[in-house]
Amino acid sequence: MTAYPKTQALMQRGCDFLGTDYAILCGAMSWVSERNLVSAISNAGGFGVIACGAMTPELLDREIAGTSKLTSKPFGVNLITMHPQLFELIEVCGKHRVGHVVLAGGIPPKGSVEAIKGHGAKVVVFAPTLALAKKLLRSGGDALVIEGMEAGGHIGPVSTSVLAQEMLPALSEEYLVFVAGGIGRGELIAGYLEMGAVGVQLGTRFACATESIAHPDFKKAFFPANARDAVASVQLDPRLPVIPVRALKNKGTEEFTAKQREVGLLLDQGSVDMGEAQLRIEHFWAGALKRAVIDGDVENGSLMAGQSVGMVTQEEPVAEIVAALMAESEAALGRR
Ligand SMILES: Cc1cc2nc3c(=O)[nH]c(=O)nc-3n(C[C@H](O)[C@H](O)[C@H](O)COP(=O)(O)O)c2cc1C
Repeated sequence: MTAYPKTQALMQRGCDFLGTDYAILCGAMSWVSERNLVSAISNAGGFGVIACGAMTPELLDREIAGTSKLTSKPFGVNLITMHPQLFELIEVCGKHRVGHVVLAGGIPPKGSVEAIKGHGAKVVVFAPTLALAKKLLRSGGDALVIEGMEAGGHIGPVSTSVLAQEMLPALSEEYLVFVAGGIGRGELIAGYLEMGAVGVQLGTRFACATESIAHPDFKKAFFPANARDAVASVQLDPRLPVIPVRALKNKGTEEFTAKQREVGLLLDQGSVDMGEAQLRIEHFWAGALKRAVIDGDVENGSLMAGQSVGMVTQEEPVAEIVAALMAESEAALGRR
């Protein structure tokens, strides 16, 4: 007998797909989602996902092997679609018989979905619109994550609540849909499950878990922060590329605004050409997440965090976070 029968009943399709007790994914977080956090999530009954990020195939190979030593439960690997060695990374996942590959960061390139499925793995995709979601699910995606702009990290322009209303009624009977972005408590999980989601994905809530290797100063920046401190980067000049990222305000985010102004001015004066100007903007944040997560440089690094950061007030073991989320969801469903 489970402690969370109503929640688990609504999560059943998600649990069957993931091979877990609970359909709670910890979304891949570059530098944070490595073997320790990933195995802790999976050991707690959720689904951990290794963030491959910019890792080489050799590094990913080691990370998967290291994670397998820490858990016998299923976990996945998140690959960024524009990684220049995407197909080699897929081979590494195949070699280790990784059961689920999450393709993030853009439309999967030709042949990538087939290559993953060729190894017998399931493919999880992201889509920002209903039309693209249908296209990806019809062309081989086994499950979809919809992620709203409340989330930490790279974001789209639409909120989770609106995406959920657009996508869940249209897709949830036929397809497996997980909801991400802004989830801090189980009551909201209950709501999305009732709308047809088969599970949820959280990042911010797990980033500062006891098992997370994030630098103590990175974690300390999260605890006093409020929802309004997790802001999306703003594009000042339409000529200069800025991919929106949600992160805690710090010296780096202020300097980024100043940098855009400075480079825009140089462009106006003709002192730099467009290519050079765009490069200067793109290079500003290079390595910034690592600086914050690993080195603990909370002034200049990127403190990627979602709006649910206000609900992260202390370091907690992953198993306690998962149990709290499930209990809150169950209590909410019990009141219906
Ligand atoms: C510090 C941090 C790093 C992240 N890095 C990645 C990443 O490398 N790849 C990715 O697909 N998503 C990344 N994300 C997004 C998470 O996987 C997850 O979808 C998101 O955090 C869910 O929303 P929430 O933050 O509101 O819980 C990151 C999020 C955070 C907070």
